[in-house]
Amino acid sequence: MKTILLTGGCGFIGSNFVRMALARFPDCRVVNLDKLTYAGNPTNLAGLEAEPRYRFVHGDICDQALVDGLFSEEGFDAVVHFAAESHVDRSIEGPGEFIRTNITGTFTLLEATRRAWLAATKDQSPIANHRFVHVSTDEVYGSLGDTGHFTEETPYDPRSPYSASKASSDHLARAYQHTYGLPVLVTNCSNNYGPYQFPEKLIPLIINNAYTGKELPVYGDGKNVRDWLFVEDHCEALLTVLEKGTPGETYNIGGNNERQNIEIVHTVCDLLDQRCGTLPGGQDRRSLIIFVKDRPGHDRRYAIDAAKIRDELGWKPTVTFEEGIRRTIDWYLANEEWMASVVDGSYREYYNRMYTQR
Ligand code: NAD
Ligand code: DAU
Repeated sequence: MKTILLTGGCGFIGSNFVRMALARFPDCRVVNLDKLTYAGNPTNLAGLEAEPRYRFVHGDICDQALVDGLFSEEGFDAVVHFAAESHVDRSIEGPGEFIRTNITGTFTLLEATRRAWLAATKDQSPIANHRFVHVSTDEVYGSLGDTGHFTEETPYDPRSPYSASKASSDHLARAYQHTYGLPVLVTNCSNNYGPYQFPEKLIPLIINNAYTGKELPVYGDGKNVRDWLFVEDHCEALLTVLEKGTPGETYNIGGNNERQNIEIVHTVCDLLDQRCGTLPGGQDRRSLIIFVKDRPGHDRRYAIDAAKIRDELGWKPTVTFEEGIRRTIDWYLANEEWMASVVDGSYREYYNRMYTQR
């Protein structure tokens, strides 16, 4: 049986991945180490409590003793590292936690892995078939103009505290592969959307506000472009990298699905009008859109060239945006209680700080 250490499994992508990994590998055991920050929600994994192949550990990836202890106890064959502070706006407001979790936390995990995996062999050579998948973002590459795509060779040019902290963690991960021979693989993915995404991010925030008849804040001119990928497609790509990827390699993952923010907001409004009827008073949900002050240093356009993972590992996205956004809206409509439970006091404080008088 393979045992995987998964960090940040109570977050958006991590929770989708836990379910998919347990289903994909019937002989695997998943240990989920999560600090349960505002973004980590144990109910994202409700139903797994009785699953013997799953263990939840409430803890911080920066806690070296805890992480070392887990390696000794569990004898991990693989690490899939999701845990991070992940929201750009919060990194602008307060970068400290991003530096701590994203950089120091990644360093702590790499150190534990180095001690556990290299010590196990006399000649300190890497253990066959072990894997450390470091989950990163396309934001490390900076911002594109109207044309072009990020490839694995694009030089790093991070421009927010979030992307700078992720870039730093990518460099550390690669340095451990190069220096110590740790079997590290790095993935850089574009914007995800889908079930269980916290409503600080564009799509769930717009779904929640549009559904409840609140204003829809669009930053700047609304023409910034993101390359959207359904979360299950991202998780499939990560499972593929875990199974078939080559240590030392980087794989870009993207949806080949560029949209301006304003197009996304229009799509969500129109689908909600179709599903739920227009607002009381008869106006459509597009009437809720307001253009607000732009995000400082707002990257204009991201677009991923995912040819390498397609050609070398055979992965490509399977969920079209039309299907993915419908499934996402259906999920949020069917899970109103989930939304109500995360839009609590601390979310309201965050929302007011971020959006009132913006
Ligand atoms: P998220 O914010 O939804 O979840 C992060 C999880 O990490 C939470 O469960 C949180 O409790 C946990 N966590 C935070 N600090 C921790 C710590 N110190 N110790 C242990 N656990 C901690 O994030 P997400 O959107 O699911 O992103 C997961 C990963 O994927 C991140 O590394 C992110 O950079 C990367 N990524 C995200 C996207 C995206 O569009 N969301 C795209 C590309 C890459
Ligand atoms: O590209 C991958 C990255 O995508 C991940 O690494 C990050 O973890 C993830 O948060 C995401 O970053 P973005 O900054 O692109 O995502 P966000 O949902 O915050 O914003 C998407 C776009 O929508 C961006 O151009 C800003 C804009 N926006 C966002 C919010 C929250 C708005 O116009 N209004 C909003 O209220």
